[in-house]
Amino acid sequence: MQVASISFDRFNVLQDQEAQERIRAARAKLGDRAVLLCHHYQRADVYQHADLTGDSLKLARLASQTESEFIVFCGVHFMAEVADMLSKPHQISILPDLAAGCSMADMANLAKVTRCWRELTEVLETPDDIITPVTYINSAADLKAFCGEHGGIVCTSTNAPTILDWAFERREKVLFFPDQHLGRWTGFKKSIPLEDMVVWDPDLEYGGLTPEQIRKAKILLWKGHCSVHQMFQESHIRRWRMQHPDGLVISHPESNLDVCRNSDYVGSTEYIINTIKAAPEGTQWLVGTELNLVNRLAEEMKPEGKTVQFMAPTVCMCSTMQRIDPQHLAWTLENLVEGKVVNQIRVPEHEAELARLALQRMLEVS
Ligand code: 13P
Ligand code: SF4
Repeated sequence: MQVASISFDRFNVLQDQEAQERIRAARAKLGDRAVLLCHHYQRADVYQHADLTGDSLKLARLASQTESEFIVFCGVHFMAEVADMLSKPHQISILPDLAAGCSMADMANLAKVTRCWRELTEVLETPDDIITPVTYINSAADLKAFCGEHGGIVCTSTNAPTILDWAFERREKVLFFPDQHLGRWTGFKKSIPLEDMVVWDPDLEYGGLTPEQIRKAKILLWKGHCSVHQMFQESHIRRWRMQHPDGLVISHPESNLDVCRNSDYVGSTEYIINTIKAAPEGTQWLVGTELNLVNRLAEEMKPEGKTVQFMAPTVCMCSTMQRIDPQHLAWTLENLVEGKVVNQIRVPEHEAELARLALQRMLEVS
């Protein structure tokens, strides 16, 4: 018999405290049947319920290793898609609020990437022999499938350098989407001249480039960015260093090149956390990544006398991940208790098969 889902309307009005209690009660009833995976940017009132936490690479691996029937993903849509594609067939990946997307991932789509490939074919004739498509994991499953089909690969902020090596061992150029900043920083660290990394604007014909520019480029950088990390500026670092001459700066590689160049350390969310945790007592840190993570670290590091400060003067959170709130989590879990799956993320198998190729290539080399 089909069980009707419990409507979200009744949860929308829940006070936070009640939502928290109902999450705990539902989790106790579900036991090992449900595992909660949380990205580091998740808000504190949800993060506290996590069974497993990580950056996107770690979470992708964890999703492939859990046994629970339900993977409740407190992150954004592409992460839940990856969990669906890498988990076992009987497992169900769930995103508590379907509106939790990633604005950067939305800056590329299959129609635009296909058009880009067609235009590259006009200029280079056989792009499949010349260009490796590399998609940042922050992208929809059909773009991962595109990479799988065209001998390409997925990367994360942790393994982008290794993935770029892999790509250049096979073909002479890379089409990197959707984050121009991660692509540029990774290429820059590999001593690829900036003039050989050109921006492909998907809203212009031929990306706004001349055939000559396309032929000369080593990396074509998709014109995409993260709305959170674009807020960090080199001037924030300069000002802070004047006040904290012994302080250390650490940034996520989705920040722009000037921010990355002027940081002492650059790496993924997991890398940022581990680096600050391993630092000597009393050190002072300026951090260029999302605010929930920075606030959490600042609290955790207080007993060791480490200060952790957010890089931008304005508040910038991942507003889409923020949508996963205690109310949506309580609603999702209580539905599971009642035998109803809500907000399942299921990638169509024909797409998942090709996307898995690109994901597995990544997992094998990193
Ligand atoms: P990480 O892989 O470092 O967790 O980054 C994911 C992300 O979306 C950062 O904005
Ligand atoms: Fe996407 Fe930026 Fe949010 Fe990361 S912080 S999930 S890149 S919008």
